[in-house]
Amino acid sequence: MSVKIGNINLGEFPLLLAPMEDVSDPPFRYVCKQNGVDMMYTEFISSEGLIRDAAKSRQKLDIFEYERPIGIQIFGSNIDSMREAAEIATKANPDLIDINYGCPVKNVACKGAGASLLQNIDKMVQMTKAVVEATHLPVTVKTRLGWDDHTKNVYEVAERLQDVGIKALTIHGRTRSQMYKGNADWSLIRDIKRNPYVNIPVFGNGDVDSVEKAANWRLEYEVDGIMIGRGAIGYPWIFREIKHFFKTGEYLAGPTIAERVDVCSTHLQKSIEWKGEKTGIFEMRRHYSNYFKGIPNFKDYRMRLVSLENVSEIASVLAEIKENFFETAHV
Ligand SMILES: Cc1cc2nc3c(=O)[nH]c(=O)nc-3n(C[C@H](O)[C@H](O)[C@H](O)COP(=O)(O)O)c2cc1C
Repeated sequence: MSVKIGNINLGEFPLLLAPMEDVSDPPFRYVCKQNGVDMMYTEFISSEGLIRDAAKSRQKLDIFEYERPIGIQIFGSNIDSMREAAEIATKANPDLIDINYGCPVKNVACKGAGASLLQNIDKMVQMTKAVVEATHLPVTVKTRLGWDDHTKNVYEVAERLQDVGIKALTIHGRTRSQMYKGNADWSLIRDIKRNPYVNIPVFGNGDVDSVEKAANWRLEYEVDGIMIGRGAIGYPWIFREIKHFFKTGEYLAGPTIAERVDVCSTHLQKSIEWKGEKTGIFEMRRHYSNYFKGIPNFKDYRMRLVSLENVSEIASVLAEIKENFFETAHV
């Protein structure tokens, strides 16, 4: 059965790219889209930043036609600011607006935004209602199980946010106090899926990094789709591999080294196009080791890739990797 968010048809069991600060930017989204992701989100964008017209926040509103369907994610602690931010984000013409109620980091959660709203569901409901009323686009929410082990209140959150009009809910199977530690627990997500009152799509998130996990957890937790974050960093092929498995029941071979080089080069090129040469090259440095995980003696290449400042020199190192590992189809 096809999954729908408002009028957006995502097909059967969609795979979503998680919003990730400093990662889910247009260059990274480009390579994920090439590999079959069904829906993507921007990195989270501060409502206050958007209102102040902060260049960094505004730049994150950049979306491209080929990226559709795409959601812009916003966060904040003030209801009026969130309403205004939703209006600004709507003008950027995404397919939907997502609210972040999951971010655990101190300078977000301790300032009353992100996961902190899990401690004040009434405010979360009012904020969500304000955002829903501020835009004609579907509004979705991404959150966690609760604040800590004693307050896993996402079951109530799901019902109440559906009541004020959200069109889908993504749940990261951790509490705020877990941050990113321990294992994600999806059992509460299944409870929400089994709640007959909840009829919006519910997506599971947290720790999916293989075809096996996606296939097992789809069955075990009965979710409508899966959102993947870290598993896609340096490995956008995860989307095509999972999709292939669901379609055919067979495992697709992983990318060859040549493919890794090609996709990494595309990522670099897009990075330069969107951020300019200097920043594009600099910000790409964090991605090289992820693209080439498992390659023997990669350290020397890495050292060169992260120190070079010229795109043609980087391209020659990438070409050298391709040539030297030509025989190595897979790692
Ligand atoms: C580097 C990084 C940045 C993140 N930034 C965001 C963000 O901007 N908005 C958000 O809702 N979640 C953010 N998250 C959380 C992810 O969206 C996701 O919920 C989490 O990583 C668990 O999923 P995973 O195990 O598939 O990575 C971030 C996670 C990482 C690792």
